[in-house]
Amino acid sequence: MSQPTTAPTPKPGILDIDPYVPGESSVPGGVKPIKLSSNETPLGPSKSAIAAYETVAKELERYPDGSATSLRNAIASAYGLNPDRIVCGCGSDELLNLLAHAYLGPGDEAIFTEHGFLVYKIVTLSNGAKPVVVKCENHRTSVDRILEAVTPRTKVVFLDNPNNPTGTYVPFSEVKRLHAALRPDVLLVLDSAYAEYVRRNDYEAGLELVATSENTVMTRTFSKIYGLAALRLGWAYCPRHIADVLNRIRGPFNITAPSIAAGVAAMADKAHVEASIAHNEQWLPWTTAELEKIGLTVTPSVGNFILIHFPEDEAKGAIAADRFLKSRGIIMRRVAGYGLPNALRMTIGTGEENRAVVAALTEFQKGAQ
Ligand SMILES: Cc1ncc(COP(=O)(O)O)c(C=O)c1O
Repeated sequence: MSQPTTAPTPKPGILDIDPYVPGESSVPGGVKPIKLSSNETPLGPSKSAIAAYETVAKELERYPDGSATSLRNAIASAYGLNPDRIVCGCGSDELLNLLAHAYLGPGDEAIFTEHGFLVYKIVTLSNGAKPVVVKCENHRTSVDRILEAVTPRTKVVFLDNPNNPTGTYVPFSEVKRLHAALRPDVLLVLDSAYAEYVRRNDYEAGLELVATSENTVMTRTFSKIYGLAALRLGWAYCPRHIADVLNRIRGPFNITAPSIAAGVAAMADKAHVEASIAHNEQWLPWTTAELEKIGLTVTPSVGNFILIHFPEDEAKGAIAADRFLKSRGIIMRRVAGYGLPNALRMTIGTGEENRAVVAALTEFQKGAQ
């Protein structure tokens, strides 16, 4: 869209932003789709989280607790953290925005990978800073390439670990190596949105690094394993001075009362989280293996989603596969915007949904139209 010559002009960088395109949620024909486009949990939220939400629905005339004290305390006691160093946000998206707002400006650079979460580019540009995009190696983040991209202007490094949309992860030893090589004035943002799903001994979400350094922040979300994406709830664990900065610039009531109540109840329902982990442990390998059996390449994932690669050939490619899946009522995520034009990202669904995907893609691979 072109800017009228006499109208208010946004700050430099803002018109360079491609707006974020969320996962689609409907298919033509009005049938209820199998929605596997946004890495939401197929198990839904905890029943106690829904009940807590409903209870607060009777008191909507009241402002929420602007400090989200009960939620920060619940998170702190679950992970053994200091609640003063936790800041809650309207989704981890808001926290990424606030971090960029506080630490990036014109002339600064923020580094992230070519397949990194799209929001990093948006929040960097919207603060007038320059995105520095580094290549991955075989869909994996390369710490060496990040370090090669550091300049005196680097202010922030964003690392989604596990990465969305590849599902790959950086072992903690590598994260520590990255951190150790960064100047102390460079902020390392460890975006651990999918941490709960990871079953690897060499993975760490970032708590230790935040606890032992002054320049690392870890962001987390209630949108994935806790099944509360609709509420927009995330949190960051920060050094004290960064929590102080975020608390100065966030909206005074940035978390709603129903979200606080549901978040506290969700944290307490450990059985629900365990069930989600067990579900993913069962269906992530199953779906990966079944798709490989029919000749597709799947990047090994530690999250609740997989990246499926298609050939470049137009008739067998990702666009054709996406169209075919939609005709069967299945919505995946196109990831061309992540530099992956020949791939689709699939969220692990219910058993029935995963079987439907395998059946549809088997048909697609055979050339059925
Ligand atoms: C890597 C990553 N970080 C952050 C988010 C944002 O999560 P939230 O819903 O908490 O804003 C997502 C959501 O897809 C994500 O994939």
